[in-house]
Amino acid sequence: MRYFIANWKAEKNLEQCLGWMDEFSRIYHPESFTDLEVVICPPLPYLLTIKNRYQARLPRVKFGAQDISRFDRGKYTGETTAAMLEKIADYVIIGHSERRRWLGETDDQILKKSQQAHRYGIKTVVCLSSIHQAVPPETDLLAYEPVDAIASGNNYPVQTVIDFRSQIRLAPTTAFLYGGSVNSANIQTYLSTAQIDGLLIGTASLQGCEFMACLPKK
Ligand code: PGA
Repeated sequence: MRYFIANWKAEKNLEQCLGWMDEFSRIYHPESFTDLEVVICPPLPYLLTIKNRYQARLPRVKFGAQDISRFDRGKYTGETTAAMLEKIADYVIIGHSERRRWLGETDDQILKKSQQAHRYGIKTVVCLSSIHQAVPPETDLLAYEPVDAIASGNNYPVQTVIDFRSQIRLAPTTAFLYGGSVNSANIQTYLSTAQIDGLLIGTASLQGCEFMACLPKK
């Protein structure tokens, strides 16, 4: 199984999200692809609307949140808990370097978020930019995302990504992804090795046709 995760970050309004989904619904024919999991992670306020509108048209596409609360429930103004996302988000991105940097997220908070997600049946995509960051137990997908590769056009060489993988302890069930300036022109280098199970794609996922061009045809 190969994973292709579209991370739209805080880049789109509702109209733009729906326009992307309309275009993607027209051009994506899952029967042309084998053994791949496409996960779309829109801004959270639009997740349910998008899922409700497009799930029937895109039955094999999964949807994800870009973050989740570390709290279960209670007096935590503004938080979106795993219980709220249960049955809405199939996946959740946890510990993205932008959240670690701009919102001060710590390994301990990331561990709690991961526990919450699993408690409510949501698969986790944990982002790591350094081998010194902790990998929560039972991580479903681990994404290596070097900070200077993200949205910079400087994607890391495939061998550097493989070397990173060899330095971390991965459970046999954890898939290993790379993210950082992946696009349709360079994605093939990552797909050519069995040691990379998928890609987390930011900038190149913002245009439906460019994201589509990243998916390997059979
Ligand atoms: P990028 O973002 O593809 O724009 O580098 C990847 C990410 O931050 O998930």
